Amino acid sequence: MAIERTLSIIKPDAVAKNVIGQIYSRFEGAGLKIVAARMTLLSRADAEGFYAAHKERGFFKDLVDFMVSGPVMIQVLEGENAVLAHRDLMGATDPKKAEKGTIRADFADSIDANAVHGSDGVEAAANEIAYFFPALNVYSR
Ligand code: PPS
Repeated sequence: MAIERTLSIIKPDAVAKNVIGQIYSRFEGAGLKIVAARMTLLSRADAEGFYAAHKERGFFKDLVDFMVSGPVMIQVLEGENAVLAHRDLMGATDPKKAEKGTIRADFADSIDANAVHGSDGVEAAANEIAYFFPALNVYSR
């Protein structure tokens, strides 16, 4: 059994739809514990830094514009196989392809406004958690 941590972002579209609580219930129902959380309006520098790996992609500017368009809710989830468990809850990047009952199938409207972000691996999770919660180990353990 691997206890992992992963970074989750509830994106501006889902915050605007007032479904933070419903999404949190899904995390908790799947056995994922919220060990840190913060609501914030990202600066362009925050968003560009976070998505730096995608800066050459055609959608980069649209993605950054979207991520700074309203508040986001950022959290660290902890639990057994948290990275994969969280990705299963989110569903496919494109909500049209997401399995029924997943967060994106239920709350996202399009690939550009797809409700949630989740780390795609354990290493990415460690980097993303450090990016938004640099002092996490100091106050959560
Ligand atoms: S990849 O190749 O697997 O890394 O790419 P992917 O995970 O599919 O997408 C990387 C992030 O870019 C977002 N994305 C988009 N944003 C706007 N427009 C379009 N067309 C688009 N396609 C992908 C996607 O949601 C990913 O962001 P996160 O926050 O990780 O969900």
